[in-house]
Amino acid sequence: MPLATGSEILEAARAGSYGVGAFNTNDMEITQAVLEACESSRSPVLLSLSEGALKYGGKALVDMVLSMGRDASVPVCVHLDHGSSFESCVRCIRMGFTSVMIDKSHEDEETNIAETKRVVEVAHAAGVTVEAEIGRLGGVEEHVVVAEEDAILTKPDEAERFMEQSGADYLAIAIGTSHGANKGKGRPYIDHKRIREIAALLPHPLVMHGASGVPTYLVERLNAAGGQLKDASGIHEDDVREAVKHGIAKINTDTDLRIAFTAAVREVLLEKPKEFDPRKILGPARDLMREVVLERLQVFGSAGKA
Ligand code: G3H
Ligand code: 13P
Ligand code: ZN
Repeated sequence: MPLATGSEILEAARAGSYGVGAFNTNDMEITQAVLEACESSRSPVLLSLSEGALKYGGKALVDMVLSMGRDASVPVCVHLDHGSSFESCVRCIRMGFTSVMIDKSHEDEETNIAETKRVVEVAHAAGVTVEAEIGRLGGVEEHVVVAEEDAILTKPDEAERFMEQSGADYLAIAIGTSHGANKGKGRPYIDHKRIREIAALLPHPLVMHGASGVPTYLVERLNAAGGQLKDASGIHEDDVREAVKHGIAKINTDTDLRIAFTAAVREVLLEKPKEFDPRKILGPARDLMREVVLERLQVFGSAGKA
């Protein structure tokens, strides 16, 4: 079936108070793991490609992901993650992506609005929907003074102004999450009050970046097989569930699949030193990533929605 736009999938999620996974992919095994988990649980999904993924896999990766997405039996959107420029977004729109993110969150408000608006005009003319971001992704300590928190996290009044003026379709907000496998000491603090305040002002789907759970069992498997992932911490499942209840509709996950992939590959290489068939090395990684995606989909609440 044709690919779905981001808005088609995410507006239904926001209206139905469930979350949809946006999983980063860089190769066939990750893409298969995500799609097989989504098909078996009947979940809609976004397959995200970063500019790094595009550089790594080129047109061959894009063509493969678009084709696998179209062949899936559940709604699939192919999305550009953290597009850094107008040109990058236009290139992906031309290649057949059905959603793009323009990330000018490091610029001032006026520039972010102007650059996002430019992308929205072109994207909408091509039937593609757009994610934008405001605020700085990064952990904050609980109970820091509001002024300090406001300097980093997304301000509700700015979010409202931004969406009205930019015309973007869904918004990534900074609420205490951060990218990668080290999201802060203990259980990272998530500003749920802020999510509720933003959601009360905006009907749009909200997006949580840096949402990986970095589960202890996976980190232990990785390290037991010779990995050296230290001080690992992720977003607690209950924080994801609560965020979804209040308006988060798109939940980004990359790190969890990277850890699963590497743990499984390391295990094979350690346990079977005589093995040199790539399929026997990458197959178990695909199996473990599929399990991890299935666990995530249960937390998001998207199972059975497709
Ligand atoms: O948010 C970033 C994603 O995890 C993608 O990472 O740019 O290394 O592909 P990448
Ligand atoms: P994680 O690093 O928590 O997986 O977040 C990925 C992400 O936000 C991609 O845009
Ligand atoms: Zn991100």
